[in-house]
Amino acid sequence: MNNIEKLIKERHSVRSYLDKEIELDKVNELNKLIEEANKEANLNIQLILNDREVFDKYVLHYGKIKNCANYIALVGPNDSKLPEKVGYYGEKIVLKAQELGLNTCWVAGTYKKSAVKATINKSEKLVCIIAIGYGETNGITRRSKTIQDVTDSKESPDWFKKGIEYALLAPTAMNQQKFKFKYIGDYEVKAIPGVGPMNKIDLGIVKYHFELGANKKIIWK
Ligand SMILES: Cc1cc2nc3c(=O)[nH]c(=O)nc-3n(C[C@H](O)[C@H](O)[C@H](O)COP(=O)(O)O)c2cc1C
Repeated sequence: MNNIEKLIKERHSVRSYLDKEIELDKVNELNKLIEEANKEANLNIQLILNDREVFDKYVLHYGKIKNCANYIALVGPNDSKLPEKVGYYGEKIVLKAQELGLNTCWVAGTYKKSAVKATINKSEKLVCIIAIGYGETNGITRRSKTIQDVTDSKESPDWFKKGIEYALLAPTAMNQQKFKFKYIGDYEVKAIPGVGPMNKIDLGIVKYHFELGANKKIIWK
């Protein structure tokens, strides 16, 4: 198993955190990657530290993020491409966090949106946030769909199957895994989202995982 595969397999959503600050060198590494992503994709992603209100002010019990003091605000120009873009780059940051020994959870619903401290410029939008810190545990493996559930392409090369294998290990909203992949040709793939607002974010996330699995820059059709 290579290092990336290990990280992807070890990553699980974590919803309860310890009172342990993220060390400065790790904060710097995360900010460096965030800066690169913002530049490359014209985004305004921000790491917000020592702010508990977004999670503590959320009142419902189900899906509540406990004792988390940090989050990544996924912000960018408010256009139709934004959800997929933040999915792709957000997951890149999630896997970097995993590499740094941190835990994460994508959060689109169970937080107090109005308490988010990020800068959101005119014509920008906050899509969702990612909780980040040291978890009480490293989370648990959840159930998953199979390769056959997410593709009809039977005659496909190994890189395609490996791409799907990694995509199935990616986080999706409510673990719905509504995406589908279609094999088109040499590193050409069609990725189809399910219907619904979260599915565009999910699509960006699973495309990033797919590329890591295929180990090639995919031409997305
Ligand atoms: C776009 C998106 C939004 C999510 N929103 C929430 C949320 O509001 N609250 C929560 O507790 N978990 C949320 N999750 C986490 C998913 O429930 C979790 O990723 C999924 O159950 C799969 O589990 P895993 O991440 O451990 O693989 C979200 C995940 C994604 C990708």
